[in-house]
Amino acid sequence: MAITHAAKTHATLLLDWYDRHHRTLPWRAPAGQRTPPYLVWLSEIMLQQTTVATVGDYFHRFVKRWPTVEALAAAPLDDVLSAWAGLGYYARARNLHACAQAVVETHDGKFPEDEAGLLALPGIGRYTAAAIQAIAFDKRASAVDGNVERVIARLYAIETPLPDAKIEIAARAAELVPDRRAGDYAQAMMDLGATVCAPRGARCVICPLMLGCRGRLQGIADELPRRAPKAEKPTRRGLAFVLMRKDGAVLLRKRPAKGLLGGMDEVPSSAWREGKLSLAEALKEAPVPANWKVLDGGVRHTFTHFHLELAVARAIATTSGLAKLAPGAAWVTVDKMTERALPTVMRKIIAHAVRA
Ligand code: ADE
Repeated sequence: MAITHAAKTHATLLLDWYDRHHRTLPWRAPAGQRTPPYLVWLSEIMLQQTTVATVGDYFHRFVKRWPTVEALAAAPLDDVLSAWAGLGYYARARNLHACAQAVVETHDGKFPEDEAGLLALPGIGRYTAAAIQAIAFDKRASAVDGNVERVIARLYAIETPLPDAKIEIAARAAELVPDRRAGDYAQAMMDLGATVCAPRGARCVICPLMLGCRGRLQGIADELPRRAPKAEKPTRRGLAFVLMRKDGAVLLRKRPAKGLLGGMDEVPSSAWREGKLSLAEALKEAPVPANWKVLDGGVRHTFTHFHLELAVARAIATTSGLAKLAPGAAWVTVDKMTERALPTVMRKIIAHAVRA
């Protein structure tokens, strides 16, 4: 596709700015070098729905423990899920492991360079495929995430609300990608969106694209992108059961492999349902008979599609009550919790039970 004069100008301005102001991030190669595909892929999967600040430590830990895609593919899934605990959206960790295995088994340990090959791998969608193509292979691919959508909507004063605006935004974004330095350009867009063209309080006076930005010229940059109103998230409620041994160990069990928090550890709980919680009914769903005491307060957590409010019941285990424990259940002492695949919501429940 021919690059228009305006596009050239935007890309050049952005790359000049990137050379001076880029962020130093753990997965970024020094100027003039490229990050290996394994590290680009790993960082991009971690960065989906998670901030750069949170990802840093996880990225270092993963790379130290599994320095190559072969090492990650050979790791037990449980180890990967445990190392991922706290990053959320656990399907990503399962896909991460499946993807590493696919790269080793069907691509001889080398990530494919073409879009179709990348899209065929578990957990890689259009954004991630484009980011890998651009950053790892310097191919002219357009990686459009939420940050880039905001930059483009403002640059062209696109007032159509999201998600309808996605097609126009993607087309504009693709036109802008330069023939050279596509990887730096992709990361420059990400940095601009994160540090200058921020969701609220765009810092237009320091923006390299300010002179050509239609959103700024029309005085509407901060209002863009517009969004169609979202449906309210429902609230589900339940009762979590923290069964403690006298030495402080807590009973955990494994969630089913498929679905929300698939394959992760959990504290047993009643079903999570919309509507008012009946404690009397929920107590009937206790994993074992025991002297359950419902604690004051509770735990809140928000998932992609619903809010969760949990009351917490605690009991001290008696040997006679343990006959019915599900297979896969285990006693875990608090100092061993960090080694478990324990999602944040479960950590909150245990913290509440220990504190109360
Ligand atoms: N967000 C998503 N991918 C990123 C990257 N490679 N650098 C900075 N922020 C990002």
